[in-house]
Amino acid sequence: MKKNLLMWDESLFRDPEVFEIDHVPEQFNHRESQMRELAFQVQPGLRGGRPLNSVCRGLPGTGKTTSVRKLFGEIEESTRKLVPIYINCQIDNTKFAIFSQIYRKLSGHLPPASGTSFKQVFDAIARLLQKEAAVLLVALDDANYLLYENEMNRVLYSLLRSYEAYPGTRIGVIVIISDMDVDLSREVDARVSSVFRPLEIYFPPYGEDEIKEILSERVKQGMFPGVLSEEMFDLVVEQTQKSGDLRVGIDLIKRAGLHAEHRASRAITSDDVCKAYDFSKYLHLSSSVRSLKNEEKAVLRDIARQSLAEGDMNAGEIYKAVKAGMPIGYTRFYEIVKKLDAMRLVDLQYREGKGRTRVISLRYDPEKIIEYIGEG
Ligand SMILES: Nc1ncnc2c1ncn2[C@@H]1O[C@H](COP(=O)(O)OP(=O)(O)O)[C@@H](O)[C@H]1O
Ligand SMILES: [Mg+2]
Repeated sequence: MKKNLLMWDESLFRDPEVFEIDHVPEQFNHRESQMRELAFQVQPGLRGGRPLNSVCRGLPGTGKTTSVRKLFGEIEESTRKLVPIYINCQIDNTKFAIFSQIYRKLSGHLPPASGTSFKQVFDAIARLLQKEAAVLLVALDDANYLLYENEMNRVLYSLLRSYEAYPGTRIGVIVIISDMDVDLSREVDARVSSVFRPLEIYFPPYGEDEIKEILSERVKQGMFPGVLSEEMFDLVVEQTQKSGDLRVGIDLIKRAGLHAEHRASRAITSDDVCKAYDFSKYLHLSSSVRSLKNEEKAVLRDIARQSLAEGDMNAGEIYKAVKAGMPIGYTRFYEIVKKLDAMRLVDLQYREGKGRTRVISLRYDPEKIIEYIGEG
């Protein structure tokens, strides 16, 4: 049988860029009301006042990051007096790191890595704002990561009460949260809540028709005609719905396309889609694991190993295993387990018995977890 060999520089992708995770799509429908509310909130900032604060809340893949990026793009095109700053809290999740990013955006370079105090960075930011007579709008994306590090109050306090230490500075915030269980009003202390008072903007999950429309637009832009048949497209939509995350769908199309390319085929088959799904469905696991610190990875790895060995999954037993491999106190260990629970990597539950035991179970296949963390 003669194979339909592609020249090796021939691609199925018209524009691979549109399948990248940080691509901001030109066409962005179904989020008009959220965008309008956000625009209303930041409007005072365009006239030199303090923007109103907002909380954007919704499950992963509901367009929160994209909405804020679109809005920020528009602000940057229309004024220099309101400076939007986007912070990815998965990466920058301490007060110092966040203020360093703000400083970088305003001055064009990072503060010196060592020997600079938080106060010095803040002083410099305030001077720059005063000189430019500029107002700041800070988006804290995936801000639930600040909760795991207990930094939420410190960060919001410094941003929102900055006018006390630096009269004349005006800063508004947009807090983005993908964890529906987080109740921010309970996490934030009284000194912060008296100045925070955010409007909550909800991003509901996309329905089947919306997923279809968004993905088909992406395919039209990014792939050559005929590569993804209607039947295969329906399969992609089905898998996307199953995962509940639009990012999985976009990643799935990209991987299925690469897979077909690899076979030197001009069309994606169901085998390509299934193989791709084996990766794409772990998108959450892989990005969560990447954001963990080494110590946290080690704890998660030990939980996975214990589970593979069918050992007892109570917190005390796992702590023993962890402690055998590295010096760590129980309090720190338990903090890490709570973070892994909040990140939906493990499930932490109490079991009544003699005393209350804490039982840990994994939300992913332990072998997959070890594969993503590495053997260590
Ligand atoms: N309404 C939409 N139209 C087109 N693409 C969208 C839309 N909503 C989300 N996307 C795409 O889906 C992916 C996830 O969106 P994102 O804004 O990152 O969601 P969230 O921040 O809520 O997790 C991104 O690749 C984005 O381009
Ligand atoms: Mg996001």
